[in-house]
Amino acid sequence: MSVKRIALLTRDCGGVNAAIRAVVRAAAARGLEVLGVVRGYEGLMAGEFVPLDRRSVSNIIELGGTILKTARAEAFLTDEGQKAGLASLRANAVDGLVVVGGNGSLAGARDLAERHRFPVVGVPATIDNDVPGVALSVGADTAVNVALDALDKIRDTATSLERIFVVEVMGRRCGWIAMQVALAGGCEEVLLPEKDTPIEAVCAEIEAGAARGKASWIIVVAEGRASAAEVAGAVTARTGLETRIAVLGHIQRGGRPTAHDRILASRLGHAAVEALVAGRTGGLVRLVGDRVEFMPFEAAGEVKTTDIESDYRLLKILS
Ligand code: F6P
Repeated sequence: MSVKRIALLTRDCGGVNAAIRAVVRAAAARGLEVLGVVRGYEGLMAGEFVPLDRRSVSNIIELGGTILKTARAEAFLTDEGQKAGLASLRANAVDGLVVVGGNGSLAGARDLAERHRFPVVGVPATIDNDVPGVALSVGADTAVNVALDALDKIRDTATSLERIFVVEVMGRRCGWIAMQVALAGGCEEVLLPEKDTPIEAVCAEIEAGAARGKASWIIVVAEGRASAAEVAGAVTARTGLETRIAVLGHIQRGGRPTAHDRILASRLGHAAVEALVAGRTGGLVRLVGDRVEFMPFEAAGEVKTTDIESDYRLLKILS
């Protein structure tokens, strides 16, 4: 069956609007209509669609967030929720769906594809960069650059005042942002959910450095490992040294997407439409080297995305 009308559902992070633009224009180039789903899976269950034509996606490539709005939708985890979503798709004569988002959104996409046999293609987009099988998701580069900009400013004051700063970045289960920011920011320490670096060892290192005359440190911590306040409290309690904290929070998910994210989103958005047209569904599109590939959902987990241990060793050698 050939595809005539596709729907597009998104989460929010840098580059998602560039992906929307790419999907809409790639679809137009194939003569397909596109309906945007408003507010993610909530909107899908409620049947909230907005038609998107070439014009409607002008001047959005540089915008953060998602013009379609988005929402967390626990109800879509249930069979009832998924059936409501399917009913909306069918009522609007949609015969293919592109989902742009992270693990939660892609799990919904996978259920629609595998349990309900609906043609779906995913575009990995999450600042956490934790989608199995995907080396780099849309939004991750922007998040790292936003966090790095903040961290560079913190370093100015940390150095001037000879202070210890603990900077908390996002990443509930994955320390990818923390590791990238720590490496790019030339930080002394990084605490990750995946690696058990005892706080006592961190404090011993700070004490040894202080004895040599070292006066300022930046410790990056991923939110999934501990809060900045907990780490700073432990460091002060053990070393007696003053600490300050900065929690970067949601600023990492917003902002103008980097050139890298815009281009990645453009490539993957286009590839998602091409996959639907070719009947390759039930998977996601990803970049492997400089080639875009389709990967079935069931093949996820084959590729290890980062080598935490070697990056951590590099950080310690260079700091
Ligand atoms: O999944 C991406 C992420 O940005 C996490 O790093 C963060 O913990 C979470 O989303 C916060 O999102 P929200 O405030 O929307 O629940």
